[in-house]
Amino acid sequence: MITMETSAITESRCPFTDRASHAEPEEATAPAAAESSVPVGATLNLPVADWVEVEQLRVDPYPTYARLRDESPVVWVPSIKKVLVASFAGCLFGEQHPDIFSNDVSGAHMTRAFGGQPMIRKDGAAHAAERSVINPTLRPKKIAQVWEQRFRSNTDTYLDALEAAGPGADLNEVFAAPLAAKNLIDLLGLTGVSPTDLARWSADFIAGAGNVLGNEDIWLRCRRSRAEVDVALDEALPRLRKHPDDSMTSLLLHADMPLESVRANVILAISGGVSEPQHITTSSVSLLTQHPEHLAWARADPKNFAHVFQETVRFQSPIGMVTRETKTSTEIDGFQIPAGSQIGLLVASANRDASNFEDPEHFNPRRSERRHLGFGSGNHMCAGKWAAETAIGNVAVPALYERFPQLSTDPANPGIKDGWAFRGFKSLPVIW
Ligand code: HEM
Repeated sequence: MITMETSAITESRCPFTDRASHAEPEEATAPAAAESSVPVGATLNLPVADWVEVEQLRVDPYPTYARLRDESPVVWVPSIKKVLVASFAGCLFGEQHPDIFSNDVSGAHMTRAFGGQPMIRKDGAAHAAERSVINPTLRPKKIAQVWEQRFRSNTDTYLDALEAAGPGADLNEVFAAPLAAKNLIDLLGLTGVSPTDLARWSADFIAGAGNVLGNEDIWLRCRRSRAEVDVALDEALPRLRKHPDDSMTSLLLHADMPLESVRANVILAISGGVSEPQHITTSSVSLLTQHPEHLAWARADPKNFAHVFQETVRFQSPIGMVTRETKTSTEIDGFQIPAGSQIGLLVASANRDASNFEDPEHFNPRRSERRHLGFGSGNHMCAGKWAAETAIGNVAVPALYERFPQLSTDPANPGIKDGWAFRGFKSLPVIW
């Protein structure tokens, strides 16, 4: 899901082609102080982590997270213009106290990018009214009854594509990205949309949600993608009005909410439901290549792939940070934070906190403590977590090893991973 609002923008890569064309908020280095209601560091009375560098986070955020947890788990970070929270206990506290930590953050670019305020930027009853509409189709029972078969059929399509591409193919481009996009197209009921278009829209909306510099080209891309989403909705809405189905769009349409909210929440799902399952697919294959003992364990009983999925979300969290704004002053890990502060809960850091996980720097799908914050927690916890677990953990990754028992990453070409607020492989060549 999209969670960042205040980082600036640089060019990045198309999730399908790896060509420079889209922007991602985490690559930012020049956030707009004017966007933030937080006082400057000196008045916050918090430790100032002026050594935190966005470029270093992008390359590999984990050494920075470790130092933060070690030195001070709550800090003011000038380069990001946020109070960052790095501990498991602190992040959990933030997520579990929506009365203090609001999702309705000031100056949310997401609302402009999406053309309306989606549920993730609402609190309390306003949030619950929209969230409760999509929940029924995303619960485990419905996933098993309705969606799992679609996920299997989509997986077969892209396994064929991978086989046709042959050893050396980029798992991200040929399999993980289009599969994630096609699964989401089905969940949304947007028949007729191509995975390539959906992924492009997703990247444009992610860029817009982080467009703190007001880059006109990014607003233009958001407008263009919104217009294309409108064309898809013009086809889908009359059909779904007449013939309601289990898709998220149908449920939103038949609930008592303005069309603007239907559209903002469809766009929310588009922006947040592609890159995370895509990244978990490639990260799982990379980690299982490094740990043949865990691969053998999972293959001996394919139910274990669900644990591989969850441990991958913990160990290589595709979303590194979720944002909040304090409504009242509060205390985290012994540090006082004033009302009106913009907060970054570093869930990827929380997921490596030794006070919560034994040997946290090791990938171990057999670990006993399984509760992590990779999907968030509390009332904004990821709506798509069971869909993603089924689509990737239970279907796609086991199917990859069934079709290609010798599948591994290419030792000569270990792939490219980057990002921190959103992190994952940009490319991952595989052989078999
Ligand atoms: C491995 C895959 C995924 C991961 C790691 C992930 C992670 C997250 C996280 C961390 C949040 C919480 C954001 C916050 O607290 O501010 C979130 C929210 C959300 N996710 Fe996901 N997500 C994944 C897949 C999906 C998919 C496939 C969908 C669409 C079906 C989806 C839809 C949503 C929605 C709608 C929200 C907002 C919920 C709300 O505000 O109540 N996610 N996700």
